[in-house]
Amino acid sequence: MLVLGIESSCDDMAAAVVKDGRHILSSVVSSQDDIHKKYGGIVPELASRRHIETVVPVVDEALEQAGIKLAEINGIGITQGPGLVGSLLIGLSFTKAFAYVYDIPFVGVNHIVAHPLAVFLNGRGGPASKTAVKPHTPLPIPSFPLIALVVSGGHTTLFKFDTFVDYTLLGQTRDDAAGEAFDKVAKLMGFSYPGGAVVDRLAKEGDPSAINFKRPYISKDSLDFSFSGIKTAVLKHIKGIGDELSEEEIKNISASFQEAVVDVLVEKAFLACRISGVNNLILAGGVACNSRLRERAIERGKSNGVKVFIPPPSLCSDNGAVIAAAGYHLIKAGKRGDISIDADPNLEY
Ligand code: KG4
Ligand code: ZN
Repeated sequence: MLVLGIESSCDDMAAAVVKDGRHILSSVVSSQDDIHKKYGGIVPELASRRHIETVVPVVDEALEQAGIKLAEINGIGITQGPGLVGSLLIGLSFTKAFAYVYDIPFVGVNHIVAHPLAVFLNGRGGPASKTAVKPHTPLPIPSFPLIALVVSGGHTTLFKFDTFVDYTLLGQTRDDAAGEAFDKVAKLMGFSYPGGAVVDRLAKEGDPSAINFKRPYISKDSLDFSFSGIKTAVLKHIKGIGDELSEEEIKNISASFQEAVVDVLVEKAFLACRISGVNNLILAGGVACNSRLRERAIERGKSNGVKVFIPPPSLCSDNGAVIAAAGYHLIKAGKRGDISIDADPNLEY
């Protein structure tokens, strides 16, 4: 079954063709980092305007790279939420019209729930181009039940999945998302949006024990997160220095902040495994690109007997392939969207 996945929830317009929820035939991502970086964050109005221009070419390119004709598509998965309402509406309105005209079944997908499905994907995203998902060797396939930690720019969420379509929310952030904290700390040090990858790079040359930022565990048994305090602690630390930050200070702040966030993410993810009696763990979402998080989760998995699955970075950040995979499983389970479904910026799990 060939499913087209379309993702437009935030600042990326993405489309992909995936066969049987597993094999990526194409994956095209049109990023807007060039537009938003000078504003220090995403400007919703600019994001949706650019989506209007990119939706048709991105879908066309995904079909072309997959080498398939429209008539061969058996279903469409489209992000229904959560996200920016203006951005979501572009992808959803396009999908409704497209599905109606060509008589293709479609289904609304929860973006956050779709992220972990990246570990079930393999294949390549069409010819190596700047916009295509890079080819990667197939990952071992995890078995259910499994715990998934989704760490992105807007969400930090723990789920237990019993099947592809049955899942339970275990915990989530009470304030800032992990990615948001990375972006804000990067901004405090003078870097443009999104700053997570920059902090990751700088942290490699810094001392993670240089500054002891308090780890926000909330309580020993809580599976919720809170990252706003640590961001304020970084702000206070920077103000305390007063002068312009030296290169060494920037590297040490990056490493110390990152270590504190990674400590909490790893601790809570493995606590969720322990509480649920589950020994398969997925890390997904843009922050799962973080090299220290990947390293620490793999190390901890080895000592705890938990199998850790982390997608290649190109499938951690936003892409259409995970939406296609989620769409495939929902359509197989009998779910269908219709012309009345609406974008939901706060779509629940
Ligand atoms: O999942 P994603 O691509 O988009 C959302 O759904 O939000 O996640 C984007 C987030 C941004 O906050 C970005 O700074 C962060 O992922 N990110 C990273 C790294 N690469 C991307 N954070 C830490 N380390 C990285 N290497
Ligand atoms: Zn995302």
